Amino acid sequence: MPWIQLRLQANEENAEKYSDWLSASGAQAVTFIDAKDTPIYEPLPGDEVIYWSNTIVMGLYDAAHDMDKVIGYLKSIHPDKAQMQYKLEQLEDKDWEREWMDNFHPMKFGKRLWICPSWREVPDPEAVNVMLDPGLAFGTGTHPTTALCLTWLDSLDLTDKTVVDFGCGSGILSLAALKLGAKKVIGIDIDPQALQASKENAKRNGCEQRLELYLPKDQPQFKADVVVANILAGPLKELAPTIIEYVAPIGLLALSGVLENQAPELQTIYGQWCDMDNYVVQEEWVRLSGKRKPD
Ligand SMILES: C[S@@+](CC[C@H](N)C(=O)[O-])C[C@H]1O[C@@H](n2cnc3c(N)ncnc32)[C@H](O)[C@@H]1O
Repeated sequence: MPWIQLRLQANEENAEKYSDWLSASGAQAVTFIDAKDTPIYEPLPGDEVIYWSNTIVMGLYDAAHDMDKVIGYLKSIHPDKAQMQYKLEQLEDKDWEREWMDNFHPMKFGKRLWICPSWREVPDPEAVNVMLDPGLAFGTGTHPTTALCLTWLDSLDLTDKTVVDFGCGSGILSLAALKLGAKKVIGIDIDPQALQASKENAKRNGCEQRLELYLPKDQPQFKADVVVANILAGPLKELAPTIIEYVAPIGLLALSGVLENQAPELQTIYGQWCDMDNYVVQEEWVRLSGKRKPD
């Protein structure tokens, strides 16, 4: 299948914002090109994310996507549209695979956890390594919402715990939880393609026996020790009673996909059931977390 790749010139100040714009305009995947072949170390909460002064943000769209509309949208929100530098390229499957392979690097989250593309050398074989290649479901670790959840999972002792990953996308959080010691994960997603991607990624990591995947219409009743949901504020609000039902008494919950100005309302909603922690901010994104009150 042919693809269209949009390259947008960015710098360390606007790279993350441009990445969100490309996602919002329908890019199936977004990544950054760095100048050097260095792994990206995900910052600890509170630390600054470091981008290169000459970053290129790349979005991948399927060939049928209306790129005039995308460019029009980007120009409508770009603070200096005359200066907006971009390039559109048509890519065949093998070209984009090559391109993305060149530009996707191992990333470290928290103290132990690495997300590594399969074609790169694993930087620390003794670490907890999830092998994951960019695909067409959301979740490679480059987005702050995913990074916030990965760092949170890394901070927990998940040995023999049960986990629900609500909005599992590529399965990145499910796989991280399993590799960090969880005995079973239930992944739920509204998108069948995401469930397929999660299944394939689980196989690649030898975790498929411990991962159950469901569409929302089939989701089982279950009480988990740990629940993580990286979807947007709207569904997190709407689905609060459903999501909270998955959290066992004194179980832990993390919510991501929330913008800073949306956090107080969600903090209040989930505060009905959980003792909430202070929320953590990365870029303009927030992670909320808490412990479910005992019955
Ligand atoms: C931002 S992605 C997160 C993917 C991955 N968990 C991560 O952290 O990178 C959100 C995922 O939630 C799914 N989703 C959105 N609304 C949903 C809903 N109402 N129920 C279940 N999944 C949903 C989307 O299909 C998408 O795969």
